[in-house]
Amino acid sequence: MGTEMELLSDCPVHTSVPDKYVLPPEKRPSLLHDEPSSDVAIPVIDLHGATVSDDCRRHLIASEIIKACKEFGIFQVVNHGVAEDVVQGFREAAAGFFTMPTEEKLPYRSDDLSKHFRVSSSTPYDRNGDRYWLDYLKINCHPVTDEHVREWPEKPGSFRSSLAEYSTAVHEVAQTLLRLIAEGLGLDGGFFAGDLSSGSTQMNVNYYPPCPDPSLTLGLLPHCDRHLLTVLSQGDVAGLQARHGGRWLLVRPIPGAFVVNLGHQMEIITNGLLASVEHRAVTNTDAARLSVVTLVMPKMECRIGPAPEMVNESTGPAKFKEFEFSEFIKAYSAAAASREDVLQCFRIHR
Ligand code: OGA
Ligand code: NI
Repeated sequence: MGTEMELLSDCPVHTSVPDKYVLPPEKRPSLLHDEPSSDVAIPVIDLHGATVSDDCRRHLIASEIIKACKEFGIFQVVNHGVAEDVVQGFREAAAGFFTMPTEEKLPYRSDDLSKHFRVSSSTPYDRNGDRYWLDYLKINCHPVTDEHVREWPEKPGSFRSSLAEYSTAVHEVAQTLLRLIAEGLGLDGGFFAGDLSSGSTQMNVNYYPPCPDPSLTLGLLPHCDRHLLTVLSQGDVAGLQARHGGRWLLVRPIPGAFVVNLGHQMEIITNGLLASVEHRAVTNTDAARLSVVTLVMPKMECRIGPAPEMVNESTGPAKFKEFEFSEFIKAYSAAAASREDVLQCFRIHR
């Protein structure tokens, strides 16, 4: 096993940033305008009552969500109905995985995309092979099938059960959010419920150890998510930033909240009315940061394009051509997550 496979979490303390993690100056966080500004804030939406058929309250929540999606492409939700111990239970199990001794993690180390559970470090997503300051788990987490669960680790002891519980609960929140988004757009409430959101759900658990010099590297490169919708738990350590206009806004940690952001597919389906948001993660010197990121995926063979209902006066003629989701995934990997490069492949130029 070469040093390439070493995990950052295998080392108890990092006293300096190894060369391979040092980004070229133009990609370092300090050179981008990243002051968290106080005049604009990413919306926080209270979901209390969202699943009750009180039309008035639902309607209000749906319109708040649409406003947040148009303006920011990202928002946080509180009172989402997932019990705190369900979130904490899996967060602790996941953190426990990373802090296990190296030998316990070794059998799961892999870059084989077909695995239902693997641990790896700092993907060189980037064409230039840049490395980022994180270790991560990639898990197929929904539907919870025996085939998936068999590959999930048995240690820590609560890992499998807490993941099954968390994943099921988050899946429900995601479906509620998709229903609200659909209703807010004037579409049928079940618009996103079929193939658009029923692919095998993936989860990234990102673990960012304390970094001796956060100005030299990033936890995660600026990117847009490839799928439909992301539901993320970031705990109480800050690090996630979203691009808004010309700057990076901090997504302030709110204990128990979920961060929700739109992926490329939502932008395409709504013909650009709702935009997928570019985001990144910065590191810090003091505390390890763990984020649990649930990715709501279309089925690979699902056909995607601007919904006919969304091609209208306000959005103009169709901006994207129709494609199969699997084609998008290919283009996304080739474009190394660059927002414009990947969208370019599917844009209709007039
Ligand atoms: C992701 C992501 C942000 C974070 O995994 O796609 O954007 O805070 N994660 O870990
Ligand atoms: Ni992301």
